[in-house]
Amino acid sequence: MKKYNVAVVGATGMVGRTFLKVLEELNLPVENYYLMASKRSAGSKINFMGKEYVIEELTENSFDKDIDIALFSAGGSTSEKFAPIAASKGVVVIDNSSAWRMDPTVPLVVPEVNPEDIKWNKGIIANPNCSTIQAMVALKPLHDKYKIKRVVYSTYQAVSGAGVAGWEDLENGLKGEAPKKFPHPIAGNCLPHIDVFLPNGYTKEEMKMVNETRKILGDDSIRITATTVRVPVFNSHSESINLEFEKQFDLDELKDVLKNAPGVIVEDDPENNVYPLALNATGKNETFVGRIRRDESVESGVNLWVVADNIRKGAAANAVQIAQELIRQWEEN
Ligand code: A2P
Repeated sequence: MKKYNVAVVGATGMVGRTFLKVLEELNLPVENYYLMASKRSAGSKINFMGKEYVIEELTENSFDKDIDIALFSAGGSTSEKFAPIAASKGVVVIDNSSAWRMDPTVPLVVPEVNPEDIKWNKGIIANPNCSTIQAMVALKPLHDKYKIKRVVYSTYQAVSGAGVAGWEDLENGLKGEAPKKFPHPIAGNCLPHIDVFLPNGYTKEEMKMVNETRKILGDDSIRITATTVRVPVFNSHSESINLEFEKQFDLDELKDVLKNAPGVIVEDDPENNVYPLALNATGKNETFVGRIRRDESVESGVNLWVVADNIRKGAAANAVQIAQELIRQWEEN
């Protein structure tokens, strides 16, 4: 089997470091890794795959060497500038920022859901927003079987989604310190405010869930609304998802559909206090689904509680799984 060269851009960041962990775990057929970040950390050293790597500064010439895949998680403006440069040199960029997600020429991929979209990439593949990815893993098999008409998302999102600064606001807030990242204390609080507010009164995070869901499921007719909330949890996002279907369903059959879905683990035994929990999902690459119950207020609807590690499945693991699928497709041809 051919071996590939892979760059990690933003290797020193919260998601970047998890890229490295997941790359070690999934063990892709890689010849050389190149770890890149800003000038600030150029020259610093990271232990990875049993070797010491020196961080390189990301520049316009970084992709002049033979690189097949670049995993980017270095913020939107870095992706905007450097992803097209890398793509023009024959690299396939898997980008974790929101810069390219809604570009119609860029596939937006969750490998369990729409791996076929990888095929039409023109050098950039976008990794969806964290809260969208875990929802998609649960919704795709249900959409295929019962056709989703409407979705109501309510999220309970961890502070790790706001990077190191978000994590520190909770840690320091628990000791009574004032917040630096969030506009209000997060310790002992819930903030119905993730990313910026838009003219329609929704936050950008909420509209990401609406628009990205439609793009990934390839269905613009689904009606979707979202309320996204930051909660005092360090890691893993929880989501209450209410679905309305076109078709009727049998609840036991629906549970079986979820049990057999790729990337889903059903944890649903309320009598024994078994349901998905942020603390249990942390460190895992799967999406956990429970509290599966009929919405008795509509003709055909269901409520789900969906939990996943937002740094792993919501970012790094999903991106590395895209790389894995990309290599599988290359090998097939
Ligand atoms: P650095 O550590 O050198 O600042 P996080 O989201 O956890 O803050 O991580 C952001 C990541 O993106 C870090 O690895 C950071 O590198 C990297 N980064 C930020 N700005 C740039 C840039 N202009 N060029 C390359 N890497 C960048």
